[in-house]
Amino acid sequence: TRSIDLAVVAGDGIGTEVVEQGLAVLEAAVAGSDVKVSTTEFDLGARRWHATGETLTDTDLEAIKGHDAILLGAIGDPSVPSGVLERGLLLKLRFALDHYVNLRPGKLYPGVTSPLADPGEIDFVVVREGTEGPYVGNGGALRTGTPHEIATEVSVNTAFGVERVVRDAFARAQERPRKHLTLVHKHNVLVHAGHLWRRTVEAVNADFPDVTTDYLHVDAATIFLTTNPSRFDVIVTDNLFGDILTDQAAAITGGIGLAASANINPDRTAPSMFEPVHGSAPDIAGQGKADPTATVLSVSLLLDHLGLSDAAQRVEAAVAADLVERSAGHGRVRTTAEVGRELAARVAG
Ligand code: IPM
Ligand code: MN
Repeated sequence: TRSIDLAVVAGDGIGTEVVEQGLAVLEAAVAGSDVKVSTTEFDLGARRWHATGETLTDTDLEAIKGHDAILLGAIGDPSVPSGVLERGLLLKLRFALDHYVNLRPGKLYPGVTSPLADPGEIDFVVVREGTEGPYVGNGGALRTGTPHEIATEVSVNTAFGVERVVRDAFARAQERPRKHLTLVHKHNVLVHAGHLWRRTVEAVNADFPDVTTDYLHVDAATIFLTTNPSRFDVIVTDNLFGDILTDQAAAITGGIGLAASANINPDRTAPSMFEPVHGSAPDIAGQGKADPTATVLSVSLLLDHLGLSDAAQRVEAAVAADLVERSAGHGRVRTTAEVGRELAARVAG
């Protein structure tokens, strides 16, 4: 028997609803096998902050570190000042657990409608750097609120941090049929960081000679994501560019309700974290309207990360089949729980 110890951070808004379904599908995926899943729920997010003023205590963090993986729903609520939970909880987890690979697949499943008139085949993966860049909080404000205010957010890019994520992206490209890696940056303007990224890709390419590479400025990348998304295989980029591009990637592949992500610590010095790309959607929270599919696909990434690739594939196949059936257009609007239940049933076979 293998036991999987999962830390569950359902968080805010629709987070609770989608995580419940994600866990149900996870259970179905391991049912009848020798894998036993146990979960520990962590009460983190807006409710906790209002009650105690805490975002993520050292005690919580240490307890989370003792788990095999983390399943996260969504963080953020309009009743909490912007940035408090994002920085104090979500980004703190990514940074403290060294999630330097933020993996976000951009895949258009059969039957899913893209807003693009002629999307073609879309099947790429974005390797977004997760621990550096403009996200580190290296900045400040001077003379706040005066006409002379100065606000800075300095992007931090280290040779160590860039090389490890670029290496991971090459390794992923190597495993894919097309073996192609696109670096996205803006080295014509952000010359210091841009050139570090470019030199690093060039240098690491020597260790992956069968991977071809190209380069796009981030503005041009947004054009190609709209006009020719099939050209992408693996994209490697910094934290902020990756944040923006992966929302666009979600939009062209059927929307944010389907977009999964994995915050991976490839060295396995701490648990990796799996979460839908979408946020807490307070406008529809508590109404059973949220699509749990993005969370379920994140569960598939979780299973894969834990070496349960067979279960991972069954979960993804269940989603793919469900998406085809949706497109058959029975016009039936299902609740969050209904979608979860039907996916779990498919996984159970
Ligand atoms: C995401 C989100 C987060 C990010 C926010 C909520 C901090 O937009 O996961 O893409 O910017 O990374
Ligand atoms: Mn985002």
